[in-house]
Amino acid sequence: MRVIPRQHNASAQYTADMTTKNKNTKPWSGRFTMPTAEFVECFTESVSYDQRLAMVDIKGSMAHAEMLAHTGVLSKQEAKQIAQGLKAIEKQIEQGKFKWDPALEDVHMNIESALTAQIGDVGKKLHTGRSRNDQVATDIRLYLRDEIQAIRRLLTEVMSTLLDTAEKEAETIMPGFTHLQTAQPITFGHHLLAWFEMLYRDSLRLEDCRKRVNVMPLGAGALAGTSYPIDRAYTAKLLDFPTITENSLDAVSDRDFAIEFCHCAAVIMMHLSRFSEELVLWMSQQFAFIDLDDAWCTGSSIMPQKKNPDIPELVRGKSGRVYGHLMALLTLMKSQPLAYNRDNQEDKLALFDAIDTVKQSLQAYLGIIPGIKVRAENMRAAANQGYATATDLADYLVRKQVPFRDAHAVVGQVVHYAIEQNKPLSKLSIKELQQFSKQINQDVFACLSLEGSISARTHVGGTAPKQVQKAIKQAHKRLAKITIKDGAA
Ligand code: ARG
Repeated sequence: MRVIPRQHNASAQYTADMTTKNKNTKPWSGRFTMPTAEFVECFTESVSYDQRLAMVDIKGSMAHAEMLAHTGVLSKQEAKQIAQGLKAIEKQIEQGKFKWDPALEDVHMNIESALTAQIGDVGKKLHTGRSRNDQVATDIRLYLRDEIQAIRRLLTEVMSTLLDTAEKEAETIMPGFTHLQTAQPITFGHHLLAWFEMLYRDSLRLEDCRKRVNVMPLGAGALAGTSYPIDRAYTAKLLDFPTITENSLDAVSDRDFAIEFCHCAAVIMMHLSRFSEELVLWMSQQFAFIDLDDAWCTGSSIMPQKKNPDIPELVRGKSGRVYGHLMALLTLMKSQPLAYNRDNQEDKLALFDAIDTVKQSLQAYLGIIPGIKVRAENMRAAANQGYATATDLADYLVRKQVPFRDAHAVVGQVVHYAIEQNKPLSKLSIKELQQFSKQINQDVFACLSLEGSISARTHVGGTAPKQVQKAIKQAHKRLAKITIKDGAA
């Protein structure tokens, strides 16, 4: 039976002679009397995609060997040879010269076999007191903790771009919406700050998630620990892990840290999909609030006039992929008995794609945001339609001692009248307004204007341009406090 190779990595080549070629070359082949079926080799291999873990795998192996020498399981000379061999392999991989063999299943056995080929029998000692089960769990954690920081760096860049744009647009008036119906006037700067807040929480969420990623499972062995005198704290220090796992069964089996990461990634994508939706709407001819840079849009192969916001659309679409990965990992983990099961090998496909998709989508936003061209006159015109200052009129009446519910009812009638007259509220005469309430005086017009409405909202979190400026300053301070360090940080 032919197995269609996975598409993740072209370097995994499947040849018909693989079965015979690799007969008895597997590190675990001792108790087997038959060569592995070709189907099984293709079906079980993960090296086509987990070779991504090569660098962290080597890092983990170096630390493990050094620890074994520290406790006397290996001689110093043996550890040195292993370290040198691993360094050479690292170089080969970096230079793209390393030959990955799918018959050796995964990144771990590929590197281990290459080590023995390179330095001889000493290489066979590396796996002392270790299993691929604690090894792979360590690798994923090492890899993910760095990727989390890379994503957080991107988040910071996007947030800082948002603040720059918000600064420019602190006074730009647009309609704010609820139910996508014109609700109250706001500033575009204020709207952008809402996006900032979402991403800010995303960064904190990832920071917190990383604490649970940054725990070292090494030493858990296959599941029950090891009988060798190991020093887990020593290895953890070498690998810059602030803490180590407390239970060997849990250490090799659970992937909750990856699930938690995918949750964080899904929330980021959800936020980006909301930004995307708004950009797509705003760029439409019906809204015409913004335009995007030509370099960040694409055209149509049939309609010559088209300029489409495909990049935000793709980001919006990619959110589905990341939700899928979260669901895939939850389902992967569900009902698994302790401890390690091969199901877990599938974690990497979901995790890696979630990482890649979030990073790409954030990069897309880094490119899009500075190119948002605001069509301020259209935003303003839209804010002038839809009776966006009706609440301000009600608030005006409240200030004149009318109870809010009565004021609300009065303004409802005013709006009804204005619709009939086909006039905005600010174009009603004082006489017309006074038909509805004797409390209305000439000073009402100050609060019926768009500027009057927004400038009245000066409290923390409000949309007044002055407040938006303050919020931007405060946001810069919060951004500066975000520290993103690798390793134990
Ligand atoms: N490639 C495997 C994974 O990703 C490594 C662990 C394999 N362990 C085993 N006992 N077969 O999960």
